[in-house]
Formats: sequence, structure tokens, C-alpha cells
Amino acid sequence: MAESLSALRVLDDGAALARAAADEVAQRAADAVHTRGRFRCALAGGSTPRALYRLLAGPALSDRFPWSATHVFWGDERHVPPDHPDSNYRMAREALLDHVPLPAGNIHRIPAEDPDALNAAVRYDAELAAAFALAASELPRFDLVLLGLGPEGHTASLFPGSDVVREERRRVAAPYVPQLAAFRITLTPPVLNHAAAVLFVVSGEEKSAALAAVIEGEPQPDLYPAQIVRPHDGALLWLVDRAAARRLRRA
Ligand code: 6PG
Repeated sequence: MAESLSALRVLDDGAALARAAADEVAQRAADAVHTRGRFRCALAGGSTPRALYRLLAGPALSDRFPWSATHVFWGDERHVPPDHPDSNYRMAREALLDHVPLPAGNIHRIPAEDPDALNAAVRYDAELAAAFALAASELPRFDLVLLGLGPEGHTASLFPGSDVVREERRRVAAPYVPQLAAFRITLTPPVLNHAAAVLFVVSGEEKSAALAAVIEGEPQPDLYPAQIVRPHDGALLWLVDRAAARRLRRA
């Protein structure tokens, strides 16, 4: 297997980070559509990507973006309805999807309104299988997976101490997260590591300790789950701002 290409770029601040991330997404979308006829991307949740999504919907990028050939998915979702303030879908809809000509059939939402989180995961797995025309145990190869980093080193909904960090078979899981006292629905490491490219976007001083531990610390993914993300045959790019990079030796 080809080694992961791993790169780190430090941007001056959150606004510069969002611009660099938006340009990276737009470039990968153009490349994917040019070479494969479509762009399949898993969006990150949380708050950091909001500025990036707004730029993708903005005048500088939206008109050139291949929306009709783009399919969006989510890397994870809170176990809430799509109109809930905590919904990752709602954040992306408000910042991006409501403002761009993305065909409705190209939006592959995690059905997190299902009262049974495990059933939501089963339904989302079926959505992936249909959208990627997958055989039973085949993994989807996303052109790009966007990820954030929690202050304690989680990514997507892979939290410290969770069995899902070591998942090797399932494509989608519905872990109960004791730290949140809530269920989540998440892509698993096999899917994340099968991507053609993974882009972490990390901003703020509160992430600096986790970022240093994940990138420069000893490999201990049960403590810092973001370490489990190492695409087997794809690019791994970290876009971080100066505040988040403060404790890095190599920045
Ligand atoms: C979520 C995300 C999660 C997020 C990190 C960083 O559902 O919350 O998938 O992994 O990326 O918690 O969140 P912020 O960008 O809000 O700091």
C-alpha cells in the first residue's frame, strides 16, 4: 500500500485557515470531477468548518464549484433531529447547502432523528452502500473526508476510550459516548482510512495540546483517537492556525 502523504500547513488565524481549507476543498472537487466525473465528500461537524462552508457558498468559489457532480455525506452526526441546534446537518445546511445548487439527491444525510441510534447507523450504512454501489463488506472511497479535532483528541465521533476507535469491520457505528451522555452516529476508521484524502481543520489555542499529542506524541489512539486516522492509500493534510499550532515542535 502506498504510504500516506502527510502534510501540515500553519495559517495565521481562523480566517486564513478557512480560506486555505475552502481553496483545498475546491481544488480537490475540481480534480475529482475531472478525473472521476464526480466528487464525494464527507463533511465535518462542530463549529470550525462553518466559516469554510460559508466560503464555499460565497461568490469567490461557488460559481466555479462542480455542485451538480458533488455528493455530500457526513463523517458523523449527533443523535438529534435535522432541525436541532446541535445537528451537524443543520449547521452545514445553514452555512452551505441552502445557498448552493446542490441537487437534493446528492445530499446523503445521516438519519439521526431515528429514535434508535443503531438503526440510524444501519440506515446510513445502506445509504453509503447504495451511493457507492458497494458490495457487502466493501469500503466507500471518499474523494475527501473533512475532520475536526476535539480539545481532548477526538475526531468525528471517535472519542477517547471508545471501542469504535479500534473498529475494523463495520463502516458506520452508533457509539454511546459517556463523556456526552449521548449516542452518536459515526463513520469508522476503516472508512476514514480508505479515503483518497483526509483534511483536518483545527483552530484555536484550546486545541494546541491535543494537536501536539496527536501529531508529535507517542501513538496512543485510545487516548487520542485522531491518531487512528492514517489513510492507507491517500493524502493526510492538517490545516491549522497559529494558535492551535502553538505547542508543535515542528511548526
Ligand atoms: C462533532 C464533530 C467533532 C468536531 C470536533 C471539533 O460532531 O462535533 O464531528 O469531531 O469536529 O469536536 O469541533 P469544533 O470544530 O466545534 O471545535
